[in-house]
Amino acid sequence: MTSAEHARLMRANQANWDARTPVHVTSRFYGLDEDLDPERWFAAFEWEDLGELSGRDVLHLQCHLGTETLAFARRGARAVGLDFSAASVTAARDLAAKSGLDVTYVQANVYDAVKALEGRRFDVVYTGKGALCYLPDLDRWADVVAGLLRPGGRLYVVEFHPLLHALGPKPGLGEGPELLLRHDYLGGAGPVHRDATHTYTDGPAVEGATDSYEWMHGMGEVVTAVTEAGMSVRRLRESDELPWPRWPRMVRTDSGWWRLPEPRIPLLYGLLALR
Ligand SMILES: C[S@@+](CC[C@H](N)C(=O)[O-])C[C@H]1O[C@@H](n2cnc3c(N)ncnc32)[C@H](O)[C@@H]1O
Repeated sequence: MTSAEHARLMRANQANWDARTPVHVTSRFYGLDEDLDPERWFAAFEWEDLGELSGRDVLHLQCHLGTETLAFARRGARAVGLDFSAASVTAARDLAAKSGLDVTYVQANVYDAVKALEGRRFDVVYTGKGALCYLPDLDRWADVVAGLLRPGGRLYVVEFHPLLHALGPKPGLGEGPELLLRHDYLGGAGPVHRDATHTYTDGPAVEGATDSYEWMHGMGEVVTAVTEAGMSVRRLRESDELPWPRWPRMVRTDSGWWRLPEPRIPLLYGLLALR
């Protein structure tokens, strides 16, 4: 696939995220009107890996409504969120204003981030929880991240594990509790096209652009892209917990997050790399 085709599919994704945003803003899933603690979106290990954030320049790539970006500002970081969806950036700015937190939001494609941020460098670049799957080319993405970090700066990716993307309910009448390996774990087979009137949150149908495109990226692809862009991987955690119950058979844990009953398999990973 050429870079022009990638650009066309990313434009479709941009329109889709603009169309999803009004549904997300009023959803119980994001709970924006409930003044909930933004730290609920983070696993405890993320704070350990991120280290002290007070006084640091933290960039959140693909920040959507800024629900996680706010947590960085609350911890004293100079927080910047970047997203290509104008509707998301507008909603994120409103939310930050309501919370009384000083966060800068920039509307741009991740691949144009160095230019959009006018060469500004960061101590931490954070991204994830449904971000990398919208990026067709991880080598280019990793080069962008390296260009955004100060020397010694940290990249932290917290993403849904590719094994999670590979699982799906056993086909049949309705969606039973049994999960099978149904989808590709490895990338390389081109984009996965979805045309969905309902997004992953509760709420009404999406009005407008319903087509979206996702790319699967195996762990090897992520780690290799990061190291080839000159960053060194310091930690790679795999966790069996998710912030919400992706499937009905998931059970709540002591942390308040959700896991599948046995066997224990990774559903989320956290990758720390230094530039
Ligand atoms: C699932 S959200 C991830 C943010 C956060 N973890 C959350 O769950 O709200 C995905 C975000 O990625 C953004 N996005 C997708 N592709 C992008 C790209 N190429 N450049 C910038 N933003 C992008 C979308 O607009 C959307 O806001």
